[in-house]
Amino acid sequence: MIENRVGPPVRGEDFYGREAFVELVSEKLKVGHVLLAAPRRFGKTSVMYRLIDAPRWNYRVVHADLQYLSEPAELITHLIEKLAADDRLSKIVKGLSYVPKKLWSFFKGNFEELELLQIRLKLRDRIRPQWQQSGEELFKRVAAAEETIIFFLDEFPMMIDAMAGEEASRKEAKTLLRWLRALRVSPEIKNVRFLIAGSIGIGHVLTELGESSSINDFEQLRLDPFPPKIAAGLIDLLAEAKNLSLSKPTRKRMLNLIGTPVPYFIQIIFSEVAKAYARDGEQVTPKKVDRIYRDHVLGVDCKTYFDHYYGRLRDYYRPHEEKAAKRMLREFAVSGSLRRDACFQFYKEIVGSAADTDEFVRLMTDLENDFYIRFDHDARSYEFSCKLLRDWWLRHYGMETGD
Ligand SMILES: Nc1ncnc2c1ncn2[C@@H]1O[C@H](COP(=O)(O)OP(=O)(O)OP(=O)(O)O)[C@@H](O)[C@H]1O
Ligand SMILES: [Mg+2]
Repeated sequence: MIENRVGPPVRGEDFYGREAFVELVSEKLKVGHVLLAAPRRFGKTSVMYRLIDAPRWNYRVVHADLQYLSEPAELITHLIEKLAADDRLSKIVKGLSYVPKKLWSFFKGNFEELELLQIRLKLRDRIRPQWQQSGEELFKRVAAAEETIIFFLDEFPMMIDAMAGEEASRKEAKTLLRWLRALRVSPEIKNVRFLIAGSIGIGHVLTELGESSSINDFEQLRLDPFPPKIAAGLIDLLAEAKNLSLSKPTRKRMLNLIGTPVPYFIQIIFSEVAKAYARDGEQVTPKKVDRIYRDHVLGVDCKTYFDHYYGRLRDYYRPHEEKAAKRMLREFAVSGSLRRDACFQFYKEIVGSAADTDEFVRLMTDLENDFYIRFDHDARSYEFSCKLLRDWWLRHYGMETGD
């Protein structure tokens, strides 16, 4: 039976409504590399787990989360560790010239986290001075394997962005991108695929680095919010599993309140409704849902669920872009929508005489790709991409005055 999960990737029966998408990714991986594009919390990692848990053809997955990695030697160390932990693939890394037998046996064993950390650092330091050769030796061995091996590189853009942000590693970020590309097009490597996913727009990161063509051999597949029918189906199943009686109008109100049916948002509103019912045992009516939404979903209880939208502007946008974006988002939250030329005026106010239309257009595209806003072509105006996000912004940042 499905569980109401708010936060961690969902697996097994909890993974709902994405079978057609998983099938598409799986088919594309037969012939090439895939870039799984979607904003934060849309269900990317869950899709990856589905591809691991229920493969549709004969492949083996090496799943690596690169969120906290910041150099190529760490990446290679991480991949070696993952390969070593897989019974069927461990033989690939067993004979690597730079992994002493003693080190290797550590990855296989059940060692204390601290010990493992030291081993990891040791291997990384060994690889660092010649990471390209070390990586080549590794991938030569991977290429000799009989089966297709797919590397899932979750949060790959975050790693590249972290490297690009530091002057010392910026050049290395470019080298890594080019090196990976050379690997992918190498005629000797036929049984290797990559699936990369990220919660920050990779386009943004690569453009900043001047490397926008470095992954143009990837097929980009966009993970959208749920279609309305699937969204309604998820609420029905969750209610059934919790034995919670919700009338049709109540369910409809839940979906109307969140607007764009992002699976995470559905899980959040359901969780808040179920908690309210558990607290007071009162019948959940549409009116009650309105209150739950206002006081809990938009309230301090759930603030952290959406904080990343605000924080990410500081982390991934340049300071003047962050300021201009916050100014415009506040305006969208208060007024609903704003014509593009009016947005440019706000942008100019913040950026001053250096304001440039190309930069402005790029900023708006990044905000669109990162799921903050959408563009209405007929009205030539921008607005929040999602009602919930607008309501949340208005509640927490609508009054802000200091720029
Ligand atoms: N297929 C699904 N069925 C039900 N709920 C889902 C599904 N996909 C995502 N969710 C909801 O979204 C949450 C986040 O899922 P997941 O970690 O897969 O997203 P993500 O895109 O990888 O997020 P992040 O960008 O933060 O890494 C889950 O905890 C769950 O509440
Ligand atoms: Mg994820």
